[in-house]
Amino acid sequence: MCGIVCAISTEAVLPLLIEGLKRLEYRGYDSAGVALLNKNGFERTRSVGRIADLEKALGNGINNTSTAGIAHTRWATHGAPTQKNAHPHLTPGKLAIVHNGIIENHQALREELIKAGYVFNSETDTEVILHEVDRQYQLAGDLYEAVRATVKRLKGAYAIGLISSDEPRRIVGARSGSPMVVGLGKKGHYIASDMAALLSVTQDFHIIDDDELVEISDDGVRITDLDGKLVQRDVFTSDQHAGAADLGHYQHYMLKEIHEQTQAVSDTLEGRIAAERVLPGIFGAQDETIFKQTGAIQIIACGTSYHAGLVAQYWFEKFGIACRVEIASEFRSRQHTIADNTLLVTLSQSGETIDTLAALKVAKQEGVAHTLTICNAPESSLVRDSELVFMTHAGPEIGVASTKAFTTQLVSLLLLVVSITKHHRLSAQDEARIVKELRELPAIIDETLRREKEIAALARLFTDKQHALFLGRGTQYPIAMEGALKLKEISYIHAEAYAAGELKHGPLALVDEKMPVIAVAPNNRLLEKLKSNIEEVRARGGRMLVFADDHAQINQTKGVDIINIGRVDNIIAPIVFTIPLQMLAYHVALIKGTDLDKPRNLAKSVTVE
Ligand code: G6P
Repeated sequence: MCGIVCAISTEAVLPLLIEGLKRLEYRGYDSAGVALLNKNGFERTRSVGRIADLEKALGNGINNTSTAGIAHTRWATHGAPTQKNAHPHLTPGKLAIVHNGIIENHQALREELIKAGYVFNSETDTEVILHEVDRQYQLAGDLYEAVRATVKRLKGAYAIGLISSDEPRRIVGARSGSPMVVGLGKKGHYIASDMAALLSVTQDFHIIDDDELVEISDDGVRITDLDGKLVQRDVFTSDQHAGAADLGHYQHYMLKEIHEQTQAVSDTLEGRIAAERVLPGIFGAQDETIFKQTGAIQIIACGTSYHAGLVAQYWFEKFGIACRVEIASEFRSRQHTIADNTLLVTLSQSGETIDTLAALKVAKQEGVAHTLTICNAPESSLVRDSELVFMTHAGPEIGVASTKAFTTQLVSLLLLVVSITKHHRLSAQDEARIVKELRELPAIIDETLRREKEIAALARLFTDKQHALFLGRGTQYPIAMEGALKLKEISYIHAEAYAAGELKHGPLALVDEKMPVIAVAPNNRLLEKLKSNIEEVRARGGRMLVFADDHAQINQTKGVDIINIGRVDNIIAPIVFTIPLQMLAYHVALIKGTDLDKPRNLAKSVTVE
């Protein structure tokens, strides 16, 4: 993963590089560094830890007046998160590089470069690119040409930025498989891993595509392909403002984003539904034609997005269309049979998850009929590579543990289910009922958020626990999985989710007073069965926490705490019941004092395999 920011400006670049790194910290946060170019050469500062640690390391240097520089925040892949492995990497005196991605043929290149006399100072794959550029630079005498010759030799993923002290007013970047944008400012030009990093200086961008190079200088921006042919690129003006990702009065982004769900869901619905129906054309001009021919759905995603796909599987099949859901990393690397007329749906908050992108590519190569993505990042690779597109409108999500991106994905999926299954088993009455429920959803979410105090109090039950079990049935099974994932990512408590019917097939053996069990119990036809599961846990002295529909009539007794969530229609229940599970994980982590916006070893956007 990792994030890069590079700048050539008429004013000091350090403040914007640091600001950019802070905005990119979600991409990795185990070490960071900056290299500034002035007339005496490079001034480099690197530190292990967060951007705040880098600022401390910069100390008095924070007032540096250099007008060109490159910076990096790292999520270690090759080489431990040490200062020596932190970027930027430098050749003695001449070149500096920052890199996001993984170079697969680094070993072969490294051996070749060592034979040629190069000395390596780190364990990173990045240093291989640096020395190869240096070797090519000596032949070509031009940074752009040296980078162009180098990237042709690289296998893997990269977004790189390089600067040379011989050409101090020029930065060269190149991209393949890792995201890259160029910012067009009034005072300078910039390269970064995403737009958010540069919103403090510009809202105008060029998006760089795979196998392209870019050169920024005082004269402007030049984009070319690998053959050196000039590429014309439109300017994309972002409607995001720097402040959109500010913390406001919240203690953590995760809490802010949990509370933003009322608005986010309403933004996702805006302009997409009429009085009693879902509007046509909301997935793209061709959606009706494609949906009429669609005979099966294949969903592909990772992490939290995968859980959203699992919920949609129940919905699609309820209304008469076959649906398969698979983790992208598995899908991309196995042989499969895709039925004719399958619509391939990718789900992704970032639109840059490398396994999801690769799975989409594989499916296209195998001739899948049509592709659609549900995504939260308008200019992402996934959006550009998909035929039909639906933006979730969740707004920037900074907390590594996904919250509002998930609930807005579920809302988007429900709109998709209606739009497709109305050509199958879904009746006009069903459609009207679902639309009515969706319309009421923001208010129901708002009501659910008011339970926070109650949930925060119960969070105390978990802080001394090592393990927890989550149970659900039907559409609530993936919600139990999502609840378990939230708890483990941010509180580091080992949590597992089971379809409640599986309890007797193994996990019941683990249940005792040390193993809390959390159940999600909406008022549906599976409720009676779930009640029996609750009894089974209670009989073994297990401590239970049940999130229940008001109509579920589950009794609060010794060892069983009930949180009533209101009266929630079945179709939207998975969306609503997600919220208390998010709040529970948040409050457990808060009490435990973990770094809950940036949990250890994780990153928001996984752009490496
Ligand atoms: C990482 C994030 C998760 C996210 C997953 C998939 O693991 O920490 O929150 O669900 O990637 O990301 P995507 O952007 O494709 O939804």
